[in-house]
Amino acid sequence: MNLEDQIDKNNLPRHIAIIMDGNGRWAKEQGRIRVFGHEKGTVSVKETVTTCAELGITNLTLFAFSTENWNRPKLEVKALMKILVSSLKKETETFIRNNIKLNVIGRMDDLPTKAKNELQEVIDKTKHNERLTLTLALSYGAREEIRSAVKEIAFKVKNNIISEEMIDDSVINNHLYTHDLPDVDLLIRTSGECRISNFLLWQIAYAELYFTHILWPDFRKNHLFEAILNYQKRERRFGKTSEQLCNPRHDAV
Ligand code: IPE
Ligand code: IPE
Ligand code: MG
Repeated sequence: MNLEDQIDKNNLPRHIAIIMDGNGRWAKEQGRIRVFGHEKGTVSVKETVTTCAELGITNLTLFAFSTENWNRPKLEVKALMKILVSSLKKETETFIRNNIKLNVIGRMDDLPTKAKNELQEVIDKTKHNERLTLTLALSYGAREEIRSAVKEIAFKVKNNIISEEMIDDSVINNHLYTHDLPDVDLLIRTSGECRISNFLLWQIAYAELYFTHILWPDFRKNHLFEAILNYQKRERRFGKTSEQLCNPRHDAV
């Protein structure tokens, strides 16, 4: 049986997030400049997005550019922004055809005007689509996201819009960029690095983490299927015992 057929369609992660890493190393292996790796990475993005839509995944979030990535060489940053704009232009039709809604998290205001405008255009064109919400994390940092949520909540408390006692997980959630998205079920990072790099710190509290050595430009649908199959083999206990999960009557004893 091929990998796709082994996937249990009734136990799909509701939200997959991916740290797409390894473009630079992939290019280096080919004796090419880093930007070549970023260009090739767009092929993996397209295949991953369309495969998720076909499979029935409803939320996919891709880490495309971090707040820390602004510290990269100017030319690389410029090239990345250019690739973003050209890919959006090229793939708008793919989003529409596959009923995919585009969403952005991060400091969109930091982006060059061209990128901002292009993103806004695609967001508007796809806002009624509902098969898959594709969220691009751009100029995104989880600490920045949490910091700005804390500031907004503090402002509301100070101005008596909400009381301190009202602050619970859902209030915090509602002030994050991801307020419309469910928590992450499966977090994938490519390239062999086993770290989070300031991505979705609040939202991955109970995510299953999956690290693969595949470099992002080599990531294909079978790698995604492997990650999902691995996820489906895990027991998500959320603090409970294995016995409680298998037999709810254990709650009583
Ligand atoms: C991921 O690949 C893309 C971005 C961070 C924008 P990298 O560019 O980080 O590639 P490596 O990690 O240097 O190989
Ligand atoms: C994380 O990758 C950011 C993105 C994938 C966009 P990095 O390559 O920037 O992460 P570090 O610096 O190796 O942790
Ligand atoms: Mg990297």
